[in-house]
Amino acid sequence: MPNKTKAAPAPRAATNKLPDGLTDLMYQLLETEMGGVQVYRTAIQCAVHDDLREEWNEYLMQTERHVGIARDLVAAMGLDPDAETPARTLCRHNGQSLVKLMMEALAIGTPAQAQLTAAECVVAAETKDHANWELIGLLAKKSEGAIAGALGAAVEQVENEEDHHLYHTQGWARELWAEAMGLPAVLPPPEETQDVDTAKEAADAKESRDALI
Ligand SMILES: [Fe+2]
Ligand SMILES: [Fe+2]
Repeated sequence: MPNKTKAAPAPRAATNKLPDGLTDLMYQLLETEMGGVQVYRTAIQCAVHDDLREEWNEYLMQTERHVGIARDLVAAMGLDPDAETPARTLCRHNGQSLVKLMMEALAIGTPAQAQLTAAECVVAAETKDHANWELIGLLAKKSEGAIAGALGAAVEQVENEEDHHLYHTQGWARELWAEAMGLPAVLPPPEETQDVDTAKEAADAKESRDALI
């Protein structure tokens, strides 16, 4: 006799499988921070301006802390922080290329050229670092439960520092270029003196430079 009771729904596919792009972002988040440590260690060797060296030393310490935060977050997402993936490999090579470029600048350039190269390399590294954490912030808002909590707490710990890393170093790169071109420069840059920590404030600081000269 046929069973007329309603069939139980088929078991759902395992839900702990993350979308590929999310897995890639998590590994690149960690790898960017790890590469950032190497970028800062090399950039510090290129720094000529005392205030800039001091700033990068502070950013190095913060980035070392971010490595731990990113590592814990990767594990909280159910991923192995030591696993190797293509996205992670590409990200590591990007960081290594920045270190190589600064070493080359130290070998063949003047101290001022090496410092400028380092400022541009830090901006490149921090553009990616900043974008990674911004995406983690977006994800946190769309997530629920413990994962949302872990993502949100991690972003909270780093976001202000990431704003400083990017916007302040952009200011240094711009003003050091102005100085190198023989133009009036605001050193330390207004991003520094105005304690910029948002894109809007960075735009305002840039706007204000002419008045500060
Ligand atoms: Fe960072
Ligand atoms: Fe950073």
